[in-house]
Amino acid sequence: MFKSAISIENLCFCYEKDKPVLNHITLDIKEGEFFALLGSNGAGKSTLLRLMNGLLKDYSGVIKIFGKNIREIKKDKLFTIVCTVFQDPNDQLFALTVYEDISFGPRNMGLSDKEVDQRVINSLEAVGLHGFENRPIKTLSYGQKKRLCIAGVLAMQPRVILMDEPLSGLDPMGVREIATLLKRLNKEKGLTVVMATHEVDLIPLYVDRVAILSKGCITRLGEPSAVFSGSEELKNAKLRLPYIAKLMEQLKLDGAIDYNKLPLTVGEAKKELLKKLNNNTIF
Ligand SMILES: Nc1ncnc2c1ncn2[C@@H]1O[C@H](COP(=O)(O)OP(=O)(O)O)[C@@H](O)[C@H]1O
Ligand SMILES: [Mg+2]
Repeated sequence: MFKSAISIENLCFCYEKDKPVLNHITLDIKEGEFFALLGSNGAGKSTLLRLMNGLLKDYSGVIKIFGKNIREIKKDKLFTIVCTVFQDPNDQLFALTVYEDISFGPRNMGLSDKEVDQRVINSLEAVGLHGFENRPIKTLSYGQKKRLCIAGVLAMQPRVILMDEPLSGLDPMGVREIATLLKRLNKEKGLTVVMATHEVDLIPLYVDRVAILSKGCITRLGEPSAVFSGSEELKNAKLRLPYIAKLMEQLKLDGAIDYNKLPLTVGEAKKELLKKLNNNTIF
């Protein structure tokens, strides 16, 4: 049996009266899952993350973290269990140097200097910023700042990481590196990762389950293959299929290729195309 990391029941929230932003959200994210909240701009992703990390309190419904009602968990304690990487690194980074920034959280947890130093070194190592301890933050590139934010969160050794659009604003190589890093931490350390994103192409590569969030409602939930088979929900949520899946779907509609399961990644598409090419050579 998988343990529940975050369970949400009938959650409703609005910033302004009579203008609902989240409507009757029910969701169960398991420990060790890599989970994506997929939605277009304004769908409510960031708001849902802010509710999961206890920053917004004026909601109805129940949010539980590892079985305990979030309202009953002290703020200091909650921030060591669930940590958030915000969308814009400049909203998160406040110190002058890399060391100062990463050490802030662990120091506040009352850890010894030795333990704090070790955590700074380990988390910088994990994000590929080994040796950056004394660098002034303002000299880092955008991608390096994003990594630093992740390092800061890793140093807290949380059980759940919430990421708000962690890949936006990165170049293609940066996207791959950060996504691979998150996947590795998820696999190796059993870290639960919840990622808010609108980037459909990456979902099938990294994510265990995905929920489509549209106008504050979850309209589809499941493994990427199941979620991407619902073209109506994707359209209604102002999303699209991954490009490679779109190509394969078009080829099938044209009668050029046939398959049982829509390929969602380049690897899956390659397999189907090679099958077709090999068959053509035989006949
Ligand atoms: N602080 C706020 N006050 C009022 N409305 C807000 C606030 N933050 C977000 N909203 C509104 O809530 C809705 C959901 O926003 P958000 O959660 O940021 O969506 P997403 O992250 O999916 O783009 C939007 O309509 C947005 O305008
Ligand atoms: Mg957002």
